Amino acid sequence: MTRTATVDDDALFDLRWQRAAADLMAPLLRLYGKRMSPDALRDRLRALLARKWAERPRDLRALDLARDLSPEWFQDQSMAGYVFYVDRFAGSMAGVAERIPYLCDLGIRYAHFMPCLMPRPGDSDGGYAVMDYGRIDPRLGTMDDFRAVAAAMRAAGISPCIDMVLNHTAMEHDWAVRARAGDPHYQGFYHLFDDHDTPLAYERTLLEVFPDQAPGNFTWNKEMERWVWTTFNTFQWDLNWENPEVFLAILGIVLDLANSGAEVLRLDAVAFMWKRMGTVCQNEPEVHDILQAINQAASVAAPATIFKAEAIVGPQELVPYLGAGRHTGKVCNLAYHNSLMVQFWSALASGETGLMTDTLRRHFPDRFVGAEWATYIRCHDDIGWAITEEDAEARGVTGPGHRKFLSDFYAGRFPGSFARGADFQVNEATGDARTNGTLASLAGLEAATTEADIDLAVARILLGHALIAGFGGLPLIYMGDEIGLTNETAYLEDPDLAGDGRWMQRPAMDWTRADAAPGSNAPSGRIYRGTREILAVRAITPALRGDVPACILDTGHDKLFCVLRPGREESVTGLYNFTAESQQIEAHRIGRDAQDAPLDLLTGQPPAREDDRLILPPYAALWLHSND
Ligand code: GLC
Repeated sequence: MTRTATVDDDALFDLRWQRAAADLMAPLLRLYGKRMSPDALRDRLRALLARKWAERPRDLRALDLARDLSPEWFQDQSMAGYVFYVDRFAGSMAGVAERIPYLCDLGIRYAHFMPCLMPRPGDSDGGYAVMDYGRIDPRLGTMDDFRAVAAAMRAAGISPCIDMVLNHTAMEHDWAVRARAGDPHYQGFYHLFDDHDTPLAYERTLLEVFPDQAPGNFTWNKEMERWVWTTFNTFQWDLNWENPEVFLAILGIVLDLANSGAEVLRLDAVAFMWKRMGTVCQNEPEVHDILQAINQAASVAAPATIFKAEAIVGPQELVPYLGAGRHTGKVCNLAYHNSLMVQFWSALASGETGLMTDTLRRHFPDRFVGAEWATYIRCHDDIGWAITEEDAEARGVTGPGHRKFLSDFYAGRFPGSFARGADFQVNEATGDARTNGTLASLAGLEAATTEADIDLAVARILLGHALIAGFGGLPLIYMGDEIGLTNETAYLEDPDLAGDGRWMQRPAMDWTRADAAPGSNAPSGRIYRGTREILAVRAITPALRGDVPACILDTGHDKLFCVLRPGREESVTGLYNFTAESQQIEAHRIGRDAQDAPLDLLTGQPPAREDDRLILPPYAALWLHSND
């Protein structure tokens, strides 16, 4: 008689619980061991996970199994992301489904739906003030519509990503409404203070995110006669993560979103989740415990899901979001590479890559365990010039001086600047300003009047896309950047949006241009085809997988940036020219033999050379192949 081994879904749940239990309970006991007994915490958690697992649809359980067997699925070189507002991209959830062929043509395998859960009415910080996490914004559709578009994407090989705001809720969220009505359970969900002394004591070391539109970090609430912690806008109430009930409630929401078909959760503003008196209340160690617990819990009840940290913090604070020390391999799978983005723009303005090379080499490891960067050039937010004094001084410039140069350059004030952006949240005391503008406007397309200037702007945009695709990590293309959309001004007419200059870089998709792009010689067509080609080459180049190290080479050439991707079978050396002039570099400076004539994968040709020197045209990107 033969025995057939079967593992049913309950047994799978048990196995996954056993796999994760230690890594799940250890951070939770550190966080909540004093507020809840270990047994109660474990029992509540396990019951929650079992319930969500029982609700998990069959097709997603099949995906769970596939990803348990290939946990590195998201690091495949064919993974490339697209980031869009549902309304601005396609009107509605149903409209997004119709645009799947467009995403496939571009080479997209990951689609980030910008905030689309039920926002508060009026100004909702672009949807980041959520009043109901269980509903889609009715203007866009219903949760069933989201499930349908997510399933259609899954069938097309695209992983949907959705925003999960876990630092704060809208003040209109049911929890906040009940807190205002006096319910002590829900008052415990927020940071409330009877008097002003404690908020003022915190303010001594806190920074301000929106000093112009929302100064300070606390807001007086008349109904409760208490101060509320509001890091962002006054209508965004910070959740109190010291309370285990907050953890359990948010975890339930995370798993519901995963069960609706979101494969990637973008965890918004995670740096701010834990408060500690006397600090800036960002990046506290407890944040990484919370992130580990969320990730490990999902590995039990929705293992197909991965997490992306949105922590726009300085270079020293960024690495732990992808796992450091005891959290290695256990926290987020993706984190925005804010420093790479800042350094791209810095090098593009100065035409010098020394600061970029030094900073990226100094602060970041060349690989992570079970995690990688989300690389990007532009997104919906402003650019904060996160360049430290120490990094600037090591290159002979000052921090404030270089930051001022960058904000002047990208606002178009610096003589000779090609950029057309705008200042955001200018700090009069320090002179620091952040910058708004679309990729095309910041890269010179808006200001270009001659064919030569247009060529340079197109080349800068493609340089950016080649860099994020070749660097190491999952590249994210921001909606409209693939057809060179320039700054929007229409938002100024809408009173709910006019106060927030970030709407400048959130234009509606121009489908006339996008539909024509594949066959057009206009800049939009050249950018579209160039971007598509970059992603297509990447998709067939295993050395560009996310788990291949990204080794930044110090070539001593301060106009070029160089990254070696030493794959298992073959390597790719990415060389990026940040100037409007052609540049030359001796082959040996990038570790190549002088006689060697490597293929540039992006053009399919060996690069031009003179003697032992490789020649890079203005703003060129080369991906030099080698299989030795
Ligand atoms: C994130 C979002 C940003 C928002 C903030 C507050 O940083 O990207 O747009 O304003 O969180 O939710």
